[in-house]
Amino acid sequence: MSLEWSPGSWRGKPAQQMPDYDDPELLAEVERQLATWPPLVFAGECRSLQAKLAEVCAGRAFVLQGGDCAEAFADFRADKIRDTLRVLLQMAVVLTYGAGMPVVKVGRMAGQFAKPRSSPTEVRDGVELPAYRGDIVNGLEFDPESRRPDPRRQLQAYAQAAATLNLLRAFTEGGYASLTRVHQWNLGFVEKSPQGERYRDLADRISDALTFMQACGITDLNTPQITRTSFYTSHECLLLGFEQAMTRVDSTTGLWYDTSAHLLWIGDRTRQLDGAHVEFCRGIANPIGVKAGPSMRPDELLRLIDILNPKNLPGRLMVISRMGADKVERHLPPLVRAVQREGRAVVWSCDPMHGNTIRAASGYKTRPFDRILEEVRRFFAIHRAEGTHAGGIHIEMTGEDVTECTGGAQAITEARLCDRYHTHCDPRLNAQQSLELAFLVAEALKEERAGLRAAC
Ligand code: PEP
Ligand code: CO
Repeated sequence: MSLEWSPGSWRGKPAQQMPDYDDPELLAEVERQLATWPPLVFAGECRSLQAKLAEVCAGRAFVLQGGDCAEAFADFRADKIRDTLRVLLQMAVVLTYGAGMPVVKVGRMAGQFAKPRSSPTEVRDGVELPAYRGDIVNGLEFDPESRRPDPRRQLQAYAQAAATLNLLRAFTEGGYASLTRVHQWNLGFVEKSPQGERYRDLADRISDALTFMQACGITDLNTPQITRTSFYTSHECLLLGFEQAMTRVDSTTGLWYDTSAHLLWIGDRTRQLDGAHVEFCRGIANPIGVKAGPSMRPDELLRLIDILNPKNLPGRLMVISRMGADKVERHLPPLVRAVQREGRAVVWSCDPMHGNTIRAASGYKTRPFDRILEEVRRFFAIHRAEGTHAGGIHIEMTGEDVTECTGGAQAITEARLCDRYHTHCDPRLNAQQSLELAFLVAEALKEERAGLRAAC
């Protein structure tokens, strides 16, 4: 690999999953325009995220990353953004208590528009059209005009990301995210959930902790940490022309940052060592994630780490394991051992969604909630056995009451998937399932802490 890097050096490498634009001049014009528009995030914020992820690396913090599989232009509403944020904040409170450590909150939001696909085309009733690649590329509707990749969609994606980020910043810094308020919502969940009793004990203990803090004089009025929280954005680094256009030199450090999000991750389908996505990501200074599915070999992961984090900076690289509940015990331990043996600093995160997708008899893509939980449980058990820190979870979820994943306390059956199946792409956990997952992970984190105490 050549050591020379520039925001456009990826163009000389093989690039998977890129749309075929039929108007290169229009594409170039859009990219030129985007390159002059303001950054969405600042380099200093990316550095503060990296510092927090370094704490995760050291076993002193946990990361919660979640949001839509694919954001959509048609779903662009304040209440939708608010509801997803609310559930993430609710989950974070439960996890903070369980882990007894800070939870770094990262949304798959404000830019998660581009999707990799298993096939470049889709055939319906004998008609073949380009596959839907996310609203930043083309439309979901199955007709030739909608499926034609249109570069102007990138401008709309930028605008939606900017407005979403603005609202997220207002909510998280303006008092909406107050700890006491978020906890009240959790109490509401415990009341309503059919399995609420199971979580009541943990929720009551959080209530006691808040009452104790208040009695000590630590309140919303005098402690900004109670009313405000840091929230970061992330998306898959897939549409490289867009990402390049958003990449700027930081005047403080002279480093290049992709200002479209705080954290970018490389998908399981685009992580080729000599490919364009790895080339682009190695040169930007944002924290980077890399998905690791069952085909990731330990030597391959070590080489990826060499390329993406040659200085072994803690917090720079997150490995997001997405093996599937039935494969994680076979494929994850060799990766963890190789990284440990070579002394590499990575954040280990678990995506229990993408390895557990099945097709229901009705044709709907779904994910059984118990398989999702099982993968998370096994991920924790593996890290406990290896003496490493289970650093985070990465989930596809929404604040809405959708019926896309089966199971959970509401016992969503395959027959009920059609009730409220709204996703543009993969099935997401709904609000209740997300909270249930958070309570279960909190219990696992508590056990991890107890294990550590016992080992001391
Ligand atoms: C995703 O996170 O939406 C995704 C496509 O994941 P993966 O690359 O792990 O398949
Ligand atoms: Co997905």
